[in-house]
Amino acid sequence: MKSTEPVRVAVNIRPLLTSEGCTDCITVTPDEPQVHIGSHTFTYDLVFGNNGLPFSEIYHRCVAPLVEDLFKGYNATILAYGQTASGKSYTMGTNCGADGGGIIPKVMEDVFTRVEAVKSQIRISFLEIYNEEIYDLLAASKPSRAPIRIRETNSGEITLQGVTEVQVKTKEEMSSYLARGSSTRATGITNMNIQSSRSHAIFTISVKITTAEETLCAKIRLVDLAGSERANRTGADGIRLKEGRHINSSLLALGNVIKILGGNERNKKKGVCHIPYRVSKLTRLLQDSLGGNSKTVMIACVSPAITDVEETLSTLRYANYARNIKNKAVVQKQKPSTPCFDAMVKELTPSNSDAKNKTVVQKHTPSSDYDAMVKELTPSPSKSESLPVYDKMCMIRRMCSKLFLSLRSHGLPKQLGLMIFLPPPHHLQS
Ligand SMILES: Nc1ncnc2c1ncn2[C@@H]1O[C@H](COP(=O)(O)OP(=O)(O)O)[C@@H](O)[C@H]1O
Ligand SMILES: [Mg+2]
Repeated sequence: MKSTEPVRVAVNIRPLLTSEGCTDCITVTPDEPQVHIGSHTFTYDLVFGNNGLPFSEIYHRCVAPLVEDLFKGYNATILAYGQTASGKSYTMGTNCGADGGGIIPKVMEDVFTRVEAVKSQIRISFLEIYNEEIYDLLAASKPSRAPIRIRETNSGEITLQGVTEVQVKTKEEMSSYLARGSSTRATGITNMNIQSSRSHAIFTISVKITTAEETLCAKIRLVDLAGSERANRTGADGIRLKEGRHINSSLLALGNVIKILGGNERNKKKGVCHIPYRVSKLTRLLQDSLGGNSKTVMIACVSPAITDVEETLSTLRYANYARNIKNKAVVQKQKPSTPCFDAMVKELTPSNSDAKNKTVVQKHTPSSDYDAMVKELTPSPSKSESLPVYDKMCMIRRMCSKLFLSLRSHGLPKQLGLMIFLPPPHHLQS
């Protein structure tokens, strides 16, 4: 099942901090998800803080519906976006602060309440993008904190080579991994935030639900971005300055992707738009979340302080673009296994002893009617055209493996396995 829906955008206005000692620059229309800043007015799906909805409702209004959909097999993303010190980590709960609040701990609670009712398996991963490299925050030890490489499958799916995925059985276990990863995450002191995140963090919970009919495999990504910053305000120099440049350039790439996906309607209709996901690792990892296979909520975090008015306005503009992004979430059913093909691959891969002895063991009985089998496996053109790409690939794999096994049974030597693509079968039989 497919669900096309726009990215939902909530704005979260944090309270003024005592250290800020200045006035508010942002107001909210009573009972409307609308904010005013200077002469500008923006409307969103939800607004929290500054007499909008209370912050305590953010989970219930923004996140709970996505967790519900996760258990129906839909991928989901919660993305906290905004300038440095606007409250992203506080909102997401990655700071593991004294009050233990925030979205991620509540997602954990919700997930474990729901898993009681279904047969399921939960896995988590936690990574950060620091100075444009991806690091595994759950890696067992420091030496294995080598950067992780991005791989793209033939179907365009982004995967991460060697990232730690831990199976967890309790909420407490999951929390301990969040705390462990958060403590490993790069943070530092700047003039604007004493616990400034110096990396983008992505905490992913993957759920595998097995019912009598099907197995669903979906994931929820909880993203706490590092905030954009101006060096003259953060006072950054040396390492902090270099970090700040990387943070800003990846956020610029993210902003461009959001702007292109959310604007330029005319170009999009003409199909002439190129989405520059490849410009940064952040945009590549968020490819599915923005314009892809995910139900996504962006939480635009802003400071109400008059001193932050420029940054707040910029965040609100991008958040406004994000509302126009259309995602296509698809129920994530477990891909059908192809035992025949797997058996073939296993057999084609010579084991050490095989290589030494060069003995081929025949395991398959000859096929009785080769042509009938080919006919049975060849889809009619109309049927094949209506199949999605993945199903077509599976079908071709099944066909190839059956053909191969049949040819083996007709005496084809193991080493010539790939010749199945060349001679017609009657040549072999003659
Ligand atoms: N809703 C909120 N209520 C109270 N304090 C908040 C809230 N949001 C953020 N803060 C405070 O603002 C400061 C910056 O928040 P933080 O989450 O670290 O910002 P960011 O991750 O965007 O850089 C912290 O001291 C945090 O405690
Ligand atoms: Mg932060």
